[in-house]
Amino acid sequence: MSKRILVDCHTHIYTKRLVSLLRSRTVNPRIHTNSPDGSEKLAILPQEVLGGRTVGPQYWDVRNKASFMNRHAIDISIVSLANPWLDFLDAPQAVTSAYECNADLEQYCADATKLFSAEAKGEVEVARRMKAFGIMPLADGVEPKEVVKSLEVIKQSPSLCGAILGSRGLGKGLDDPALEPVWEKAAELGLVLFLHPHYGVGADASKPDGLWGAQDNGHVLPLALGFPFETAAATTRLILAGVFDRHPNLKLLVAHSGGALPILSSRLASCVAHDPHVCNRLKHDPRYYLGKLYYDAVAYGPEELEAVDRIIGRAERYGSGTDAKGGKIQDMVEVGVQRMMFGTDHPFFPPTKEDGTVITDDQTETWRSVTENLEAISDVPSWSQSAKMGVFGKNAVRLFGL
Ligand code: URA
Ligand code: ZN
Repeated sequence: MSKRILVDCHTHIYTKRLVSLLRSRTVNPRIHTNSPDGSEKLAILPQEVLGGRTVGPQYWDVRNKASFMNRHAIDISIVSLANPWLDFLDAPQAVTSAYECNADLEQYCADATKLFSAEAKGEVEVARRMKAFGIMPLADGVEPKEVVKSLEVIKQSPSLCGAILGSRGLGKGLDDPALEPVWEKAAELGLVLFLHPHYGVGADASKPDGLWGAQDNGHVLPLALGFPFETAAATTRLILAGVFDRHPNLKLLVAHSGGALPILSSRLASCVAHDPHVCNRLKHDPRYYLGKLYYDAVAYGPEELEAVDRIIGRAERYGSGTDAKGGKIQDMVEVGVQRMMFGTDHPFFPPTKEDGTVITDDQTETWRSVTENLEAISDVPSWSQSAKMGVFGKNAVRLFGL
């Protein structure tokens, strides 16, 4: 049996330039020190008026990421900028910032290589250990051609192997026809787009059914429920807009194991079949498209991982017989578990002290959010050792050409 390689495909940072920008802002998203204890808080959601999450160097310092990786035996990380990316900037700022961020991400990976070279203990070549998703200037009013240009920049950058993607697009969501050239270019360049939530569905605290609750539930409701529904809605809008019919080679990696979509996919198929507006729009049953997507394994439980594998693994049954070019559907070479890959969501979900306070600059802790996801993979009863090795890292090595 070959040695395990562990690849973290879901791990975040803010570049130092973005941290400075967030510190300079007086409205969310921002980093402020107005909390009772005076510590820096990251307030990225509109509802976080005075609160926010405690932040420290884990969010921006490459030494913390390297220490976290070494501590958890992570061979390769593919870092992505954390939400809300560039959504809040005006169009010219977003375009400039995307160039800067992509250059900074490249530098971040180079800095990591220097650090790893100084230690050089793992088996994986040090230059391979830190990779990144680039960023596109997705903000209101940005010309789609600027977004397309950013994909070309990413393709040329040696450490960037895809792009992070929020659900907002250019302000109208991911089914906005203006985004068509973006999907086309990403598919043409073979770049993986990593779809990640930020806004949550039902996140309006002012409404009685708002997903924050009448009590102080911290971030539990928006993160545990609002995020996965946002992801499900954004992916569904792409499917219903026919994006995967027109771009069958588009590679979309969906956060948090597809959010709520896998478990709701037969309901989705039934709703589509019964709706005169959409029943004849797609080439295939909606469940087919789930088998074309990639999923992180950030689900925290073996039963959930197994369910996702089974749901996405049955997709071929729902192909209508021909692909977008009229060929026979035999393209699901990677089925179910081969489309799933380990992630941590670091530095979110940090360990806490006994009194519940967050440890922000740790160099020694083992993170529960990591061990839970590792154990979940190990404990899926129906997965062979080789299937688990795939989820730990080999699937990502193959998908990203690491
Ligand atoms: N909370 C966030 O805001 N983003 C993440 O990626 C995870 C938790
Ligand atoms: Zn995340």
